[in-house]
Amino acid sequence: MTHGLLTHDALDPQDALTGPIHHRTYLINGELRTWKGGVADVHSPITTLVNGVQEPVHLGSAPDLTKAEGLEALAAARQAYDNGRGDWATAPAAERIAAMEKFIDRMVEQRELVVKLLMWEICKRKKDAVKEFTRTVDYLRETIIEYKQLHREGSHIHNVEGTLAQIRRGPLGVVLCLGPFNYPLNETFCVLLPAILMGNTAVFKPAKYGVLLITPLLEAFRDCFPPGVINVVFGRGRELAAPIMQSGHVDVLALIGNSKSSNALISQHPKPNRVRQVLGLEAKNPAIILPDADLDLAVQQCVSGAWSFNGQRCTALKVIYVHKYVRAEFLEKFAAATDRLRAGLPFADSDITPLPEKGKVEAMQAYVDEAVEKGAKVINEKGGQTEGAIFFPAILFPVSRATAIFREEQFGPVCPVIEFEDIEEVMADIAESDYGQQASVFSQNPEAMGRVIDQLVNQVCRVNLNASCQRGPDALPFTGRKDSAVATLSVRAALRSFSIRTLVACSEGRKDMLEGVVSGRHSTFSSMDYLL
Ligand code: G3H
Repeated sequence: MTHGLLTHDALDPQDALTGPIHHRTYLINGELRTWKGGVADVHSPITTLVNGVQEPVHLGSAPDLTKAEGLEALAAARQAYDNGRGDWATAPAAERIAAMEKFIDRMVEQRELVVKLLMWEICKRKKDAVKEFTRTVDYLRETIIEYKQLHREGSHIHNVEGTLAQIRRGPLGVVLCLGPFNYPLNETFCVLLPAILMGNTAVFKPAKYGVLLITPLLEAFRDCFPPGVINVVFGRGRELAAPIMQSGHVDVLALIGNSKSSNALISQHPKPNRVRQVLGLEAKNPAIILPDADLDLAVQQCVSGAWSFNGQRCTALKVIYVHKYVRAEFLEKFAAATDRLRAGLPFADSDITPLPEKGKVEAMQAYVDEAVEKGAKVINEKGGQTEGAIFFPAILFPVSRATAIFREEQFGPVCPVIEFEDIEEVMADIAESDYGQQASVFSQNPEAMGRVIDQLVNQVCRVNLNASCQRGPDALPFTGRKDSAVATLSVRAALRSFSIRTLVACSEGRKDMLEGVVSGRHSTFSSMDYLL
């Protein structure tokens, strides 16, 4: 196996960081405040030789803020929102769009450093790091287009049984935004910025890993949005997010992560019914390989589906069901294709890179050990080889249903394979599962495919035909059932998720008032201006 141990000779100078980043500011109420308290060191999953010993590369440090700063950030967001009467919540759409456009331009200026930090902090391989940045910028630009469309739709007056009504989508209030480490830029910004564009205000805490890569964008947040609209704090979730929820002043929890964290946070809010939840959570997406599948295609899709970014995607294939007639051939091909993956550093666009989470290699090993103890084998030669924080993908077969790897979201490079004879066995597992995001089905028979589609569409929220699971294109609805999601995300759906319909109505017989308000341009809401 190639390895992930860094030698400085191997590093192209353009990928090198100029030195550690000791970041000390955080954003509250439009001010970048300097933090003089405790800090958290940031290390890369990549190691380097220090006095003959392999040590994680020290990337720098970031503020470890306390409850007090978290609550100050919340107070600033509340003040800016001012119960929906604040300048941002009531601003004309064109003003919010202008702020967002300015932000996107400023964000693009930081592309090179953010991409570099995506590689160093979470070991996302270069082409995927570039893609994460570009995809996010595209998403934000598309969001503006959709927002204009929503605004135009809100400029109509409806006449419903003699009642004239103008319906627009309005903001919900203060959003607490918490993102994941696997897409620390994309998944966070794809909730934070639509929420802001709809007129909400926010407290945003970056994920546990992928913290420094947010820091080059703080000045842009400060310069592009009015004070208090976006507040950015650094530190531990327990210290910052829990007291913010306990205050009872959060109107929306936007969290991409795990249902344990979201449940714990929601339960701390004194009035949980008041909190709108926008959650992208864990999944256990199955691949189902029917006896007539094109096995080469299934293998190619299972390799990318299970192992891209080391399986650290909520949409990754996390269990593979293969029909007994093709099981042996599939496993042989899947094992060979997996073993051809290149492990190494993100800069070299390696397929498999070091895992950022502490203890993750051990956690992957524990899944393997338990499955092996209960009868499984690692069927690919390189499966489970480790070096530093690299864990080479391990395919397990046959896997008992009484194992953790069968039940839990592994979020890493281990995948169980289960043989089936009757599709009912697969459907029963999916029905029992705590998750319901997506599934992939491989078959060349339209009749068989049709039957499986009809059984799956009410269990998951996307059925991928002869393809691995994925979120994109971003205009498509992205959601899940059970513990996999709450609310729907897509360019358009995110704007809806962070807003509520509100209307101004009058009877047709008393329309003079509305006419007066509109023609006199006395209201931002009751206006018929079309945004072009
Ligand atoms: O981690 C979950 C992401 O939303 C998955 O997105 O399918 O584009 O990798 P992706």
